[in-house]
Amino acid sequence: MAQDIQAFLFDLDGVLTDTAEFHYLGWQRIADEQGIPFSREENDAMRGLSRRDSLTVLLKGRVIDEATANDWMARKNDYYIASLEHISPKDLLPGVHDFLLAAKSAGLKVAVGSASKNARVVLDKLDILSLFDAVGDGYSIVNNKPAPDLFLWTAGRLNVNPGRAVVFEDAQAGVAAANQGGFYTVGLGDAVGDEANLRLPSLASVTPHQVIDLLLAGHA
Ligand code: BG6
Ligand code: MG
Repeated sequence: MAQDIQAFLFDLDGVLTDTAEFHYLGWQRIADEQGIPFSREENDAMRGLSRRDSLTVLLKGRVIDEATANDWMARKNDYYIASLEHISPKDLLPGVHDFLLAAKSAGLKVAVGSASKNARVVLDKLDILSLFDAVGDGYSIVNNKPAPDLFLWTAGRLNVNPGRAVVFEDAQAGVAAANQGGFYTVGLGDAVGDEANLRLPSLASVTPHQVIDLLLAGHA
């Protein structure tokens, strides 16, 4: 296995923990305050997008000035940060901790590739920051998902070729980014679309070896 796949790169929000819900609730509150119609379904199109790109989706063509945009983004972030107050290791999604440990035991490098500027704070609260060999976040690159830059930057930190790495994502933008970067892709959850090489309901019922076998069988 090791000579084929050398690393696993994980998105954070919606893959390792359910903070995707807190991002949604933050934007929903901004939308409600501003009288902009917004739904959970519309939010799915925002998954994985940067704060700025998420605002653009929320606005649906409405024009606001830069000061107002900055104010809304800051307020959304304040709501998001407040919702992080009580998260702890119990908020890891099912199977995540065992899966990470099993990947490391199998000799794989593990990394996070998250668009969020809050990624390190969340990883620290989940008490998994020290597990990762590299963390790419919203400060690492300029072009965000669906551009491949973040995953390429993170793979570079690991010194691993994208063709030997697997990206785990819950967002269509994230799968598109990883596909464009030349990674193997695993899509998790209901909103991820059908562009990933492999779709799984969660990380709870699989081992790293099984994931790699399924991916390599698909590419045979
Ligand atoms: C991604 C989330 O991980 O991070 C998006 O999926 C979010 O919903 C993006 O917009 C940026 O996060 P932050 O914390 O920098 O606003
Ligand atoms: Mg995500």
